[in-house]
Amino acid sequence: MEIKKVSLPEEKRKTKIADESQLGFGKIFTDRMLMVEWKGGKGWVDARIEPYAPFVLDPSCLVFHYAQEIFEGLKAYRWSDGSIALFRPEMNARRFNVSADRLCMPQVPEELFLQGIKELVQLEKDWVPSADGTSLYIRPAMIAVEPVLGVHPSDHYYFFVILSPVGAYYASGFNPIKLLVEDRYVRATPGGTGEAKTGGNYASSLKAGLEAKKKGYDQVLWLDGVNKRYIEEVGAMNMLFAYEDRIVTAPLDGSILHGITRDSVLTLAKSLGIKIEERKIDVVELMNDIRSGKVKEAFGSGTAAVVTPVGAICYRDECLTVDDGKVGKLTQKLYDTLSGIQTGKIADSFGWIQKI
Ligand code: PLP
Ligand code: COI
Repeated sequence: MEIKKVSLPEEKRKTKIADESQLGFGKIFTDRMLMVEWKGGKGWVDARIEPYAPFVLDPSCLVFHYAQEIFEGLKAYRWSDGSIALFRPEMNARRFNVSADRLCMPQVPEELFLQGIKELVQLEKDWVPSADGTSLYIRPAMIAVEPVLGVHPSDHYYFFVILSPVGAYYASGFNPIKLLVEDRYVRATPGGTGEAKTGGNYASSLKAGLEAKKKGYDQVLWLDGVNKRYIEEVGAMNMLFAYEDRIVTAPLDGSILHGITRDSVLTLAKSLGIKIEERKIDVVELMNDIRSGKVKEAFGSGTAAVVTPVGAICYRDECLTVDDGKVGKLTQKLYDTLSGIQTGKIADSFGWIQKI
């Protein structure tokens, strides 16, 4: 599909941040965005890259009332030779369409998703930061914009992509975080929308997150919604636990996100000869295994979170330190290898990199 390039007036060009260590996460946006509309009967039309600007939307639009919305998250990395690389973007394209199906939204052809992102990042290439730990975060999203209050799938959608130069997701950087196992609220249930990347999952988890923050925890570790017993995931990352010779992680059985970083980390771990167990993790057993020292390391995985060490896990009245609250060796190795591949410092033997 041809993507029209709308000119960017000089006065709409923003000044880039000079000190990349101050980027934070998702606070700054680049000059341009991708916009494509889907209209019932016509399909995808009017693809364009235009100046980044607010939407003017009717207050009755379906997305504002019934949350028919999906999104994705991926990154573009600056290599030392100045070139730019995407990491497994086809996986985001596929997951976007799985989410679209769950939310009764139209499929975005994989080629349009990838072409749109590549052309946008190419135009905005000067925004890709180069300092260690920085990247250009890419946020594709789709919203329902039909102005009507009846509860039904929209007949009009915006598919758009915005870009944000970012540093670490957690303000503490690559340092161990403290998790609270949540046993009152639930994030997802079987048959629900837990494995779709849709805004409602994040809105419904805000309350637990806020209460945990007030008590001094960084994030909530969700349990399954039926038994409140099996470990699921953290708000923006999958969870992995390293034992002596294996990594244990929750199975992808309907209520957690199919993390692309999770898949990549498991593949890397297998290549290091580490066994992988995808199985239900009983929180009581996990706490016993941490207490007895069987759990050597704990970490989360996600596009924004990369590989994030977990230094403490608290459940009910007990707080246990994992690996003395330090960054474990395996966690560090997986972080270094994954970010090494993403930034071109380590050869990609998996076919994960797509150069722009
Ligand atoms: N789980 C949730 C709920 C997330 O929001 C994310 C972030 O995208 C992840 C897991 C990690 O997924 P990925 O590695 O594909 O970014
Ligand atoms: C990502 O890691 O890309 C995410 O979507 C997490 C987000 C909620 C910040």
